[in-house]
Amino acid sequence: MKKTLLLLATTTAITLASTGAELLEKKCASCHMLEAPTFHQIPTLKAPPLDSIVFHVNLAIEDEQKKKEFIVDYVLNPDVSKTVCESNKVAKYGVMPSQKGNVSKEELALIAAEMLAKYPHPQFVSMIKEMLTNDKMKALQTSPFLVNSEGLPHMTKLLVQNWDKAGLGLTKEQKEKLLLVRKETLGEVKAIKQQLAPLEAVIAEAMIDREDPKSVEKQLEKIAKLKIEASKAHLKCIAKTTAILSDEQVAFLLPFWE
Ligand code: HEC
Repeated sequence: MKKTLLLLATTTAITLASTGAELLEKKCASCHMLEAPTFHQIPTLKAPPLDSIVFHVNLAIEDEQKKKEFIVDYVLNPDVSKTVCESNKVAKYGVMPSQKGNVSKEELALIAAEMLAKYPHPQFVSMIKEMLTNDKMKALQTSPFLVNSEGLPHMTKLLVQNWDKAGLGLTKEQKEKLLLVRKETLGEVKAIKQQLAPLEAVIAEAMIDREDPKSVEKQLEKIAKLKIEASKAHLKCIAKTTAILSDEQVAFLLPFWE
């Protein structure tokens, strides 16, 4: 009995003395990577790395105290509508299991302070920025649209990333309508892309074979017409989507467009 009490006393003393860094290691590291992930590690992770979590917390919440409160609350009462991470990422990992019973509020206050002080690592931020630029360049290279300027938001992508967030507050009815618009647009654009590919191949081949550019003018004109059609579908999609959303919802989404 004495021994048990002694043991209990020691364990409590150790728990009380733990720093935020130790607690992170003990309570969170089994799922969340603590070091900055490399580009190749990202697809193999079972939960977002802490770098990515704090990166998104910082994007979504301005006030330092509110950031701490968010982390403490999320760990105890996780819910898809509360997430600051992208909705499609949460869908990929599954919602985090509540850590109630595994970690106390007091411990979480230390953990949250440590997270906000230490993350995201600068090398992670540069990696994310580079990935975003590469994604954008890839999208541009394969885009069938005539207008690709930064000012024109990619509404479907913004919606996918924010789909389940309480701040956006999409109703079931809105979701159904939006999915329909998305399906319709994707179908139209896909059909156009399929027609574009062989036309572009003909032109490339002709130029490699040193043929007269005049010989492919017909294909070029067809490509231009198809791209006009794709662009019309693109603009129609934006208009239909924003018509389904309220002014507040559009205002919620636009800051995520960068
Ligand atoms: C059993 C695995 C597991 C453990 C343990 C775990 N998490 Fe998570 N956590 C996840 C997964 C999976 C996600 C991504 C899905 C989500 O956001 O709910 C996540 C997401 C989060 C998020 C982001 C919420 C958002 O905006 O989507 C925070 C904050 C977080 N975890 C903090 C912690 C902290 C702090 C600890 C340690 C006390 C911890 N987690 C322990 C699995 C875990």
